[in-house]
Order: sequence, then structure tokens, then C-alpha cells
Amino acid sequence: MDKLIIEGGERLDGEIRIAGAKNSALPIMAATLLTKSPVIIRNLPHLFDITTMLELLGCMGVQPVVDEKLNVEIDSSTIHSFSAPYDLVKTMRASILVLGPLLARYGQAEVALPGGCAIGSRPVDLHINALRLMGANIRVEDGYVRAKVDGRLKGTHLFMDMVTVTGTENIMMAASLAVGKTVIENAAREPEVVDLAECLIAMGAKIEGHGSDTISIDGVTELNGCTYSVMPDRIETGTYLIAAAATCGRIKVKDTRPDILEAVLLKLEQAGADIVAGENWIELEMRGRRPEAVSLRTAPYPAFPTDMQAQFTALNTIAAGSGSITETVFENRFMHVHEMSRMGASIKVEGNTVFVDGVDALRGAPVMATDLRASASLIIAGLVAKNQTKVDRIYHIDRGYECIEEKLQLLGAKIRRVPA
Ligand code: EPU
Repeated sequence: MDKLIIEGGERLDGEIRIAGAKNSALPIMAATLLTKSPVIIRNLPHLFDITTMLELLGCMGVQPVVDEKLNVEIDSSTIHSFSAPYDLVKTMRASILVLGPLLARYGQAEVALPGGCAIGSRPVDLHINALRLMGANIRVEDGYVRAKVDGRLKGTHLFMDMVTVTGTENIMMAASLAVGKTVIENAAREPEVVDLAECLIAMGAKIEGHGSDTISIDGVTELNGCTYSVMPDRIETGTYLIAAAATCGRIKVKDTRPDILEAVLLKLEQAGADIVAGENWIELEMRGRRPEAVSLRTAPYPAFPTDMQAQFTALNTIAAGSGSITETVFENRFMHVHEMSRMGASIKVEGNTVFVDGVDALRGAPVMATDLRASASLIIAGLVAKNQTKVDRIYHIDRGYECIEEKLQLLGAKIRRVPA
């Protein structure tokens, strides 16, 4: 297994460009199953999860064509299987996103039930309940979700018990081809949900209210193809901004969107960063100052994102003062904490809160990545640590960060990948 070797202590300084958003690209790729016409998707990030989704579509008989810029044309008219096998679902839970589209367009779907993962139990009961209310007959058996519907799904009024991002996306896609109107109350407001809605609208769907907690979808009989460009990745953007702040450095991130990062930018300003932003760029400068510890609480958008919690924990480990970080979205998203302790962080977990007292320096150590965002936080810890940090199991990072070592090298970091 590849490892990343980091010689810490360099201040990051430079410019990078941000890739397309993984969590927007994945549902948009699943949405191509809703039409028999080709959909061209631009600005796809170069990531393992994207390759896994292409493989999933491929094993159903869909033949995506990728060009040299990784724009992909997906024509689902050759589909011959309606099944997402366990081997793929276990490497990427987002495979559940094919459930709604397959059911809506082909009246059948079989998707392996995603198990628990490193950040919590992560059930998909809300996806299943909502599709049942839309008329689907769903059995969960032998580790699979087996769904069928006679004719088309039926629009209905849904109240989601919890805010779920992929749940909202699955229902929105299914409802686009249902008979009549579907209303999703307590819908997720995440920008990735909005991006998917915009793509569906470009395909001919009738959707209103995306970006608010009530989304209305008037089902249509057919959707058409389109060309759609995936929005920038706000979590990748935030991760590099935090890395620059933690190393007392400076960064300009380009091809991004400051308007969807407000909660994160406010916390970085509280940490002492000077931030200026234009329509599609953000510049952060610490002027050599040590960051101040911040306290925060994760919650669905527009509150502070759970996907940035681990990275802020890394920043707090070497910040001036103490901070507490409360995770309210997932029950077990603190695996990075134990690794940071091994690097000399003064950190403890009580319930769903992490308390950190900033120390003057971390010490490099061999550490193990446990999930995507935890990996990113360990890289940040390695960048600020004295001596060498070795991050093992970095296949997690390749799922969600495009060319991370190249981008960090561009910013002056001493980081390299060592093949297994
Ligand atoms: N939940 C249920 N039942 C359901 C669905 C969700 O109880 O049927 C619970 C979950 O267990 C969790 C909460 O609801 O406690 C919210 O989970 P959500 O469904 O919103 O998460 P998700 O859709 O599986 C997406 C992102 C995650 C991100 C979360 C929260 C994608 C592909 N994944 O997951 O991204 O953390 O929303 O914003 O969009 C990542 O990129 O590293 C990542 C984990």
C-alpha cells in the first residue's frame, strides 16, 4: 500500500486550482441513468470514487466515454443490468445513488446494502422509506435492497426525519420521472444537492426550492441529455485553506466558490487568517502568525460541514489556546484524534466533543488514515509537525483529493508518495 512521507515545518505559500466536487459529480453521474440520451459531464475530478462510479455504470452495461480532459459522455441506452454489486458498494457507499434513478426509469433495482463505515453506522432507511411512500415495493434481503415498481413511481409529500444529503438526492432523481408532484420537507440544502438539481433541470426536470429545506418536483415522462459542468469542491478548497493557516502560510485557491464556504471562512478568520475573495478565488494569509484555536459544531448546510471537522481539529492541535469541536452529524468521526495524540497533541474525546489544548509543536510519527477526511487531517498534522510523518493507508485520500501531493508540493510542502 502506498504511503505519504511528509517532512513537516514548511510554511505553505502559493496558488492552486480546485477540482470539481466529488459529492456533486457522483449523483450527477447516477442521474445519467434517468435518460436514454447521452449526458456530457465536465469538470469531473480525477478521483478513485469517480472511477468506481464509472465502473459501476460499466458493469450495468453503460459505456461511459472519457476524453483526455476527463470530460465524460455517458450514454445509458445500452444498459442491461439493474444491479449494484457488493464489491463496488463496499468500496463506495455513494453507489446507493443509483437506486432512485434505476427504479424511476426501469422499474427495478438491486443495490447491495452499504454496511457501516469508519465514521458511523450510516443506514439508508430514509432513502428506502421515501421510495416506498412513492409506491415502490422494496425488500431488504441477503444484504441487498431489492426494489420494484409497477409502472411509474407516484409523487407524494415526504417529511424526512433527518437531513440526508444522498437521501434527498436519490428522492429528487426518482421524483423527476414520477407521476405527479413530490414535495421533500426537511430536505438537505447542501450546494451539491443544488448542483444536482441544476443538472436535472438542464435535463428537463421540473424542480423548485432546491437550496431551501422544501424541494418540489413535478414529475415528467422523459428526461433529455445535456452538457453540465460540475461545481468546484468546497471541501477540497477548505482543506487547503486550513493547511495554509495551520502552517502560518499564504495561499490563493482558484476556480472555487467562496459563497458556499461562509461557515468555514468565518472560522478561519476567527483563527486569525486574513481572507480576501473574488467571485471564483480565495486568498488566505496568516502573515506568519500562529493560528488561534477555534470552537465549532458541525451540522447540515449552511452550518459548519462535518467534512471539515477533522481538518480544524488538526489546526487546533498547534493553535494558541483551547478549542472544542462537536460532531452532530456522524456518531464516530474522531478516529484521527488517536493518531494526533501519537504525534503529541493534547486532545481528548468526551461523547461527541473533542477538546484540544494547542501545543507548541507536534512530533512526526507513523500514522494510519481511517477515512477520507481523517486522512486529510493527518496530512495537515504532518505538515505542521517537526520531523517526518508517514501516513499509511492513503487509498482513502485518493478517493477524494485529486493529486494531493502534487498540489501541496506546488505550495512548497515537502511531501512525497512512496509506492508499496
Ligand atoms: N442517516 C440515517 N438514515 C438514512 C440516511 C442518513 O439515519 O437513510 C443519517 C446518517 O447516518 C448520518 C446523517 O443521517 O448520521 C446524515 O447523513 P447523510 O445521509 O446526509 O450522509 P450521506 O448522504 O451518506 C453525504 C456525503 C458525505 C458527507 C455527508 C454529510 C456524499 C457522497 N457523501 O453523505 O461525504 O459527510 O453527506 O454532509 O455526498 C465525504 O465526502 O468524505 C463524505 C463522507
